[in-house]
Amino acid sequence: MARRAQAVIPGGAHTYAKGDDQFPENAPAFIQRGIGCHVWDTDGNEFIEYGMGLRAVTLGHAFAPVVDAVARQLSLGTNFSRPSPIELECAERLLALLPGGEMVKFCKDGSLANDAAIRLARAHTGRDMVAICGDHPFLSTNDWFIGTTDMSAGIPQWIRERTVKFRYNDMESLSALFERYPTQIACVVMEAARTDEPRPGYLKDVVNVTHRNGALFVLDEMITGFRWNLGGAQGAYGITPDLSTFGKALANGFSLSALVGKREYMRLGGFDHDRERVFLLSTTHGAETHSLAAAIATMRYYQDNPVVETLHARGARLRAGFVRAIEDNGLRGYVDIAGRDCNLLFATRDSHKKPSQALRTVFLQEMIKRGVIAPSFVVSYSHAVEDIDRTIEAVQGALAIYRNALDVGVERYLVGRAVKPVFRRYA
Ligand SMILES: Cc1ncc(COP(=O)(O)O)c(C=O)c1O
Repeated sequence: MARRAQAVIPGGAHTYAKGDDQFPENAPAFIQRGIGCHVWDTDGNEFIEYGMGLRAVTLGHAFAPVVDAVARQLSLGTNFSRPSPIELECAERLLALLPGGEMVKFCKDGSLANDAAIRLARAHTGRDMVAICGDHPFLSTNDWFIGTTDMSAGIPQWIRERTVKFRYNDMESLSALFERYPTQIACVVMEAARTDEPRPGYLKDVVNVTHRNGALFVLDEMITGFRWNLGGAQGAYGITPDLSTFGKALANGFSLSALVGKREYMRLGGFDHDRERVFLLSTTHGAETHSLAAAIATMRYYQDNPVVETLHARGARLRAGFVRAIEDNGLRGYVDIAGRDCNLLFATRDSHKKPSQALRTVFLQEMIKRGVIAPSFVVSYSHAVEDIDRTIEAVQGALAIYRNALDVGVERYLVGRAVKPVFRRYA
């Protein structure tokens, strides 16, 4: 089946992060169904899954309150020639969670929301350049971002030159960009945090420097939105972005993203002003009613249940078990677990403490043998304590093999080829 998929779908999957090159050879080629945090492959094998739907499925697969809301909406129709009242309901509910957000437009993918933020910032400032945080690995599928990666084929040089990078937690590097390109940078785009937390005052300093230089501050909340806090990272860290973007965690896996922002900028996409109009997100499927129903049900569930607290608590338990397994197997410095408890990532290093894709593959492979698919350790609300404890047991077993692979050679344990980074110039 994997070969058939490769024959008709470039890369064999519709998202690179799901591709065969990202997983060891013993990984299930396809996942047929899921419930909660459990999934089944086409042979009926069951796994505990992490990072579900590229972090979009925060509550759980086939989560009843969301599925029921979607089913109800499906029977009422999904797309009309005038807006549906659910567009207003969903907009008001989202904005109520975000004190700095005054207007919102919905679309389908996070990339589109970020693209729109950039177009709006460029239109508002009359500038072309975009400053992005170079330590944040993914912001958009569009040329302004992909042009900065090792997969920049097909993207003109003049577009690639319009995006420049600064370092996270390093104010100097951002100030240096504004000095080097005075009055040319339209906006600063970044996530609030990834593996490292912001240094005290860092995010506020970024906002201030950005504004002092006449640019807009765009906060990408694709991952942090509803995972860090019900008010997003902007709520968690007490900052007010000019524009912010949401996706993934908005609708428990249904396709919905949002550009949220201050009225003075967002209104340029409307028609109650006399400035030049901005084409601000207008897609055929942008306000599909059942995705909006999913988002409303998801937000309601977040508000009525301790979802954010549970994500952090489950992650904390998993981190503690993982750290114990690292110590038990003498792997301190070779294997690491990093990030917020609700968003755990791991690192694998070789005997020289250099990042190793081969050892990452061995670890993934051994976890899969033990019934866990874990390209990350990003939990959902459906990861029960028993799932976490079963995972920790699997980590203990997998790290014992990792220790042996470090001692006697990774090739003795690696079955087949190693995984590869998504962004690489050649296959
Ligand atoms: C931080 C961040 N921003 C933007 C995106 C793009 O979102 P989408 O894949 O929905 O276009 C992603 C996707 O992985 C992301 O992680």
